[in-house]
Amino acid sequence: DLQPIIVEGPMPIEAENFAAKLDNVEEETSGSFVFYKGELDDYPVIVMKTGKGMENTAAATALAIEKFNPKAIINQGTSGGHDPDLHVFDIVLGKRTVNLGSLKTPHHDEGEGIHPKDWIPMDLMASEGSAGEDPDAENIRYFKGDEQLLAAAHAVKNTYDKGKVVDGTIGSADVWNNEVDRIQWFHENFGSSVEEMEGAAGAQIAEAYEVPYLGIRILSNNKVNGGEYNPDTAEANQEYVYEVVKKYIDRQ
Ligand code: 5AD
Repeated sequence: DLQPIIVEGPMPIEAENFAAKLDNVEEETSGSFVFYKGELDDYPVIVMKTGKGMENTAAATALAIEKFNPKAIINQGTSGGHDPDLHVFDIVLGKRTVNLGSLKTPHHDEGEGIHPKDWIPMDLMASEGSAGEDPDAENIRYFKGDEQLLAAAHAVKNTYDKGKVVDGTIGSADVWNNEVDRIQWFHENFGSSVEEMEGAAGAQIAEAYEVPYLGIRILSNNKVNGGEYNPDTAEANQEYVYEVVKKYIDRQ
């Protein structure tokens, strides 16, 4: 039997356009997650509406892997720019994904204040010991995007004409940053191209199961260069990801 390709989208506007492009769709729900099980070029493709955020994404990804034994997972949707060279409607392919909420604070006594720029990256996967005490955990954990999925995405770059498509670093946390200095701090210290709330959670689970995974994120906003939020980006991204999935299927 063919192993399905899974396309994750957090919000209805980030999943339903893609689901509508599939043939012979059967809908299934589990908890708050919705699976649209269909076909693309006679190949099984499952669109998952995961809900927003790291917890929903991690749980949905584990569930989908256990239920459907996927060939590959694409996590896609909107994001906010951290790189001033990227504009609303540009697309970032997650060559790397990183959890921007994995942080440790240095010690300060009562009354010594809060100093976010001194916070240290923390790698929860560094060891089985306490991440608070282990010096090896003072490290940024990057999850690598799958090479074959990236190659398929590169191969269809020219089908997208609403902006550019670049390789980059997707940063994730259940946080929406509007402080430009803080965004620049992440961009400089973690190398983030964009921020969103799902990619690193799915990447961590996919890596645990050794399932090929790629984040594909369109900028819906960019605080760094005045890019105003535009929800139409969600559909544009799905149109591009559809071409990526087609190409990936072609190569199976
Ligand atoms: N910061 C954080 N999340 C963002 N999203 C879009 N833009 C941003 C941003 N600037 C996405 C998240 C989440 C929802 C709030 O929109 O991935 O699903």
